[in-house]
Amino acid sequence: MTAKLIDGNQLSQELRAEFRVRVDRLRSIGVTPGLAVVIVGDDPASKVYVRNKARACEAIGMHSEVHALAASTTEAELIAFISRLNTNPAIHGILVQLPLPRQIDSRAVIEAIAAAKDVDGFAYGNIGELVVGESLFPPCTPFGAMKMLEFAGVAVEGKHAVVIGRSNIVGKPMALLLLHAGATVTVCHSRTRDLAGIVRQGDIVVAAVGKPRMVTADMVKPGAVVIDVGINRLPDGKLVGDVDFDTVKEIASWITPVPGGVGPMTITMLLSNTLKAAETAAGIRATRADTRIG
Ligand code: GUN
Repeated sequence: MTAKLIDGNQLSQELRAEFRVRVDRLRSIGVTPGLAVVIVGDDPASKVYVRNKARACEAIGMHSEVHALAASTTEAELIAFISRLNTNPAIHGILVQLPLPRQIDSRAVIEAIAAAKDVDGFAYGNIGELVVGESLFPPCTPFGAMKMLEFAGVAVEGKHAVVIGRSNIVGKPMALLLLHAGATVTVCHSRTRDLAGIVRQGDIVVAAVGKPRMVTADMVKPGAVVIDVGINRLPDGKLVGDVDFDTVKEIASWITPVPGGVGPMTITMLLSNTLKAAETAAGIRATRADTRIG
């Protein structure tokens, strides 16, 4: 069997076209949705991500500002900076690019972001809402992965979903979103015994470990849906996922490519969350009742 591709670029284009209409509606009432991205230090990969986020905002008519702070910035300085963004009415979403330099406690910084502007969905308040299934801002990467399943017409309810990776940014929120969608969820990680045996039980497999091509064809049940969250750069410069795409595509029913899969969807869902934040602030969006995940 050759798997069908879930194309993150195509889905992103479709969603971003819909977002543009919503941006225009907001602009017609004098509100331009605004995202502030804060980056501390000189990590080259982070700089690329941040630039891509800002460009994506501008492409659909949103306002974006990138604040690049010195690597020596203190935690207190960063928190004071965020406080100003919290009260800036032109800014509806605040994203602090992770990782942060050593001297800064990331948790303290994330908690300093106003809940209504936490478009990454990383603060405790948002995580709590995610646990009970009412998240206004589901974390962008797992949110994007769920949209890809929806786009492919994959019925999640009743399926066994296996998530590989337990990070706060992807693995744990992914497991929660799948659970809310009615899947039976297993979370595997570096201490899991018989990883291959468990992954082979998955009707849906989400790989989010950061190890190039670690999910191989022998670990995948024929017909499974495989979502690859990994973005790994090989010594020769090639970008590959956590899934051995060439062999797994012969076994799976659906598969996401790398690049062009979950990556663009992460940015698309950041736009979605920022738009939601602006609509909520403008009073044209119901709040809790309208925060059904997805
Ligand atoms: N670093 C890697 N992924 C992310 C993300 O989704 N959000 C933020 N803020 N930093 C990241």
